[in-house]
Amino acid sequence: MIVVHTVAEVRELAEMARRRGLRVGLVPTMGYLHEGHRSLMRTARADTDVVVVTIFVNPLQFGPNEDLDRYPRDLDGDLASCEAEGIDVVFAPDVAEMFPHPLRTSVHVSGLTEALCGVARPTHFDGVTTVVTKLFSIVGACRAYFGRKDAQQLAVVTRLVRDLDLPVEVVGCPLVREPDGLALSSRNAYLAPQERRAALVLSRALRDGADLVVAGERDPARVVERVAALLATEPLVEPEYVELRHAIDLEPVESVHGPLLLAVAAGVGATRLIDNVHLVVDDDAVDVDLGVVATAS
Ligand code: PAJ
Repeated sequence: MIVVHTVAEVRELAEMARRRGLRVGLVPTMGYLHEGHRSLMRTARADTDVVVVTIFVNPLQFGPNEDLDRYPRDLDGDLASCEAEGIDVVFAPDVAEMFPHPLRTSVHVSGLTEALCGVARPTHFDGVTTVVTKLFSIVGACRAYFGRKDAQQLAVVTRLVRDLDLPVEVVGCPLVREPDGLALSSRNAYLAPQERRAALVLSRALRDGADLVVAGERDPARVVERVAALLATEPLVEPEYVELRHAIDLEPVESVHGPLLLAVAAGVGATRLIDNVHLVVDDDAVDVDLGVVATAS
């Protein structure tokens, strides 16, 4: 495994791979790697020849009162995880390498970024799309792996690539959960034991909402109400939104039909958590994708 810290080095390694006819896989991350990240790495490893993992806590995507300064970091642990997953190249730049001078350019995807997490985090997705565009430009033509844990981010990045004809194939990967249902997240490290227990209500509420659809409910408002009612039973949880939207364009839906995203965000103590379930509804047939349970590594 080669660990590089500069744009020039990672660009050169990816270019060399393509010149040799090898397929490049890219897994962008902010580090503090867990089984969710590692499942993306495994898929990339199985699908492509040269896998590049990027580790960069991107300041552009944090709002002024968010957790940039205390975002968990563990480069040594991350490198060990990458090594164990057979990663070829780790790109771990510092902020000065990625942003040597003040940016005068930003990439904005309209519409898809306004609802859901965009309400509480109005500058977040511009930060994501700007850094992701930069990473795509640095690494070049590749397959890029993103988790469905961040379903809105996946939809936004997919749209970005399509709109700008970037030479990247975006691959969505399953949401990985703990055995008790909690969606894996680097931010789970912030949770006190009591908060962690309370946080389980997110996945339970989503499962309940999905069950209601399976049982035949086709009114989006009723599904949302059910999820919200369950979240409200947990005093340590402060719901931010519960939404049922079209899974691709993230528009509101009038009936429960087609590919759908049932998504929640909530504060648990000082920690903001998100979770979602993917549903495909075709008349009476309902396909529910709650994600997968982490396999111990
Ligand atoms: P980060 O939160 O580190 O996540 C990196 C990738 O891992 C994302 O594609 C995310 O969806 C995926 N991931 C995180 N938890 C997961 C889980 N439980 N199951 C499946 N996939 C999971 O997302 C970012 O970083 C940043 O916004 C980034 C895209 C790197 C841009 O800075």
